[in-house]
Amino acid sequence: MYINFWYPIVKSEDLGIDTPERAKVLGVNLVAFRDADGKARVLSDTCVHRGASLGGAWSMGSAPRIIDGCVVCPYHGWEFNGDGECANIPSIGYGTKTPPRAKVDSYPVEEKYGIVFAFLGDLSEEERPPLLNVEEYGQEGWHANEILVLEVDYNYERSMENGLDPAHNEFVHPTHGHAGKYRDTYRVREYDTEDHRQGWGFWFNVTMDTPPLPQSDHETAKGGTPWGKEKTERSLIRPGGGTYGPNAMATYITLTPEKMFRQYFFEQPVTENKTRIFFLNMRNFMLDPEKDAAIHARNKIIAKQDIDILLEVTPRLTPMTNTREVMMPADKAILAYRQWLQKFDNNGWRIDTDAFNEKNGIDSAYTIPSPGRKTSGNWVLDTIPLIEGKIDRDQEATA
Ligand code: FES
Ligand SMILES: [Fe+2]
Repeated sequence: MYINFWYPIVKSEDLGIDTPERAKVLGVNLVAFRDADGKARVLSDTCVHRGASLGGAWSMGSAPRIIDGCVVCPYHGWEFNGDGECANIPSIGYGTKTPPRAKVDSYPVEEKYGIVFAFLGDLSEEERPPLLNVEEYGQEGWHANEILVLEVDYNYERSMENGLDPAHNEFVHPTHGHAGKYRDTYRVREYDTEDHRQGWGFWFNVTMDTPPLPQSDHETAKGGTPWGKEKTERSLIRPGGGTYGPNAMATYITLTPEKMFRQYFFEQPVTENKTRIFFLNMRNFMLDPEKDAAIHARNKIIAKQDIDILLEVTPRLTPMTNTREVMMPADKAILAYRQWLQKFDNNGWRIDTDAFNEKNGIDSAYTIPSPGRKTSGNWVLDTIPLIEGKIDRDQEATA
């Protein structure tokens, strides 16, 4: 897991104006709330007074949890504004100046695509990787489904790699695979990857030779090619996909030259072993919102097929060396993803999860460093341990 990227925190519609929402991301507790202008704010959840959870249990019934744009700690009523500064400490009298150490980390927030994202790291605005731009979002001729959040009990990198894996479709998804039934024709053609135009990741298109899908009536399934060149007995599906940062991914599904699904996955690593996937499904056909429910239902069925496999993959973390797996040309995108992770390793952004797990919540309450730490001192909590220097990762080897 890495600091210094944008992570989904909560769906916009789940963040009301009256109540804070907690989220655990990268193993660390965060609290989100809306300030007096309705703007989403995200803070470290651990109160620097005596460690209560700012978004946690509240015994005060209908008393407000958010006052003047500040979230109120449920233990002794300290009030923290969206910048993380403590505006009031009731025990010294409301309106009395608070000490400079009475502050928590506050993270940059962008609310887009129906999701509240926070930049979890301390890079300045100029240094930060931008949030992935979904160019068709809000454009005429495109429709977005409501965000689907999938909660899964496995590592987010395993989840990302599954989305980059063209060879699993044939065997995991009865909706678009045949379990190897067409043994003489099936294969995944070799493909190349290229860097994403925004940097921070890559893109690939892959051609898979598959037989027509008897249960489907779309043009591809009848034996034409989506882009109208060769005509063949077999249909060719040519999905594309790519990554952006360690935790964002897209899949383009081209049904015909005119009909596409563009699916975006913003992954929230809760811990190393638990992930919440914020799934944005865009389409440029069947634009009637009444079709949303059916598309959600189908996506959930397909997701379940992946989840059942991924729950049983061993080891639970992606291996740091490719010699522990036998990679094939179809796995090229997975290697490209790991090479990008290596770049993030080299930046010193990888969390030292062993050190973190040993102490966090026991005798330390770690927080993720925020940009404010670059401009002021006097911070109370220790920042999450990171792995500095060279990481022993061998991602060059291929079969
Ligand atoms: S622990 Fe938060 S106000 Fe005391
Ligand atoms: Fe899948």
